[in-house]
Amino acid sequence: MPEPVVDLCVIGAGAAGLAAGIFAAEHNPAIRVELLDGAKSVGAKILVSGGGRCNVTHDVVTPDDFFGTRHLVRNVLAAFSVRETVEWFASLGVELKCEETGKLFPVTDKARTVLTALLTRARELGVVLRPGHRVSAITRLDTSNNVIGTDQSSRFVIRHREGETLARRVVLATGGRSLPRTGSDGSGYGLARALGHRVTPTVPALVALVLDDRCFHERLSGLSHEVEVETVVEGRSVDRRTGSLLWTHFGISGPVVMDASRFWSLARERGAKVEVCGNFLPGKTVDQAREWFLGRAADAPRRSLVKLVAEVVPERCAEAICLHVGADSQQACGQVPRALRDRLLAALTRFPFPVVRDRGWNFAEVTAGGVPLEEINFRTMESKVVPGLYLVGEVLDCDGRIGGFNFQWAWATGRVAGRAA
Ligand code: FDA
Repeated sequence: MPEPVVDLCVIGAGAAGLAAGIFAAEHNPAIRVELLDGAKSVGAKILVSGGGRCNVTHDVVTPDDFFGTRHLVRNVLAAFSVRETVEWFASLGVELKCEETGKLFPVTDKARTVLTALLTRARELGVVLRPGHRVSAITRLDTSNNVIGTDQSSRFVIRHREGETLARRVVLATGGRSLPRTGSDGSGYGLARALGHRVTPTVPALVALVLDDRCFHERLSGLSHEVEVETVVEGRSVDRRTGSLLWTHFGISGPVVMDASRFWSLARERGAKVEVCGNFLPGKTVDQAREWFLGRAADAPRRSLVKLVAEVVPERCAEAICLHVGADSQQACGQVPRALRDRLLAALTRFPFPVVRDRGWNFAEVTAGGVPLEEINFRTMESKVVPGLYLVGEVLDCDGRIGGFNFQWAWATGRVAGRAA
């Protein structure tokens, strides 16, 4: 007896896969949709997201918030705006609230609300969810050789832990490699590759950076303040951004570091020389910083050096930087020798963070790299390599900055594919 053929088999029931399944079943109630997931209980990543609150999206989403082929990203985002996302969640019974930062969360402040709503809607629509079905291979059938009985339209055989599923169309929604214990262990890249897709190198993104033990980060653990972070690869500045930096016991974190981390990881992956520098006077050059210093020192020459530096960074950090450049923090700022002052100003405007590594996949929020967007038709998310195969979410080579953008990518790609597949 041949297996019943599934019209649409979604592999991976994370954010993008659930969206694809729901939109497909809503768009065409007559089709049979199945979601296979390797994890025993699905949605683990949604549950841990946003510190357990799930930052569903952002009030303003533009292609500038993403790293990926710009015009393709723009087209996909345009197909499902933030307003439509908010309305869609409202239709699922999830009201969203916008915080000062522009991030949108469920009013319940519980990620569980989001996951439950998605699973409930999928169930209402008759979408079959099969947890514990880790997929190990997808084979595209040559429809001319009639391999599976008389049904000429069955194009794929999906091999998984419980046997095989036959499907007319497949959505690959296996995510990336971040937080592998949730089930997203990168196996989707192998599945895509076996079907003929390319996969660009994958590295952890939105991840904290570990500093050399000799740096002073441990003493500042828990402290956060605004810093301009610049990433320089082989002598060329590739990224510069300002935001909140958090010192931790292992190194540096916080939104500005998380956003910058992909550049460090990508450069390291290809063996390039990379530096991450901090400007504690965001936007100021060393000459402007000197002007500021001299002006303040002239106003109050007997003020201690640490008090002056503490005008721009928290006092604990000021103390650590003074010590780092070999200055006596209690010294009167009007009496600091020129060479020492220059060393201090250089450290304040271009502090070389001694990064030894990123914190790795267990701590990264997303993956940079994946299946190139050029291999996908952005109007449908269908593969240009394998007709009938659709790719959505993090498995694609597109990652967003911190703030709800990665979920927006998951919902938008899921919707486009779900309606088309
Ligand atoms: P996702 O990884 O969610 O799902 C993939 C699914 O495929 C998993 O269920 C996995 O088990 C399954 N799978 C993988 N391989 C398989 C196989 N071979 N066979 C069967 N199933 C397989 N983003 C954001 O916008 N706001 C936020 O607040 C956060 N917060 C956050 C916190 C933390 C700690 C992390 C790790 C990540 C975030 N993110 C985030 C990022 C966001 O969670 C992420 O971008 C999306 O979940 C990606 O959705 P996908 O559906 O593409 O992959």
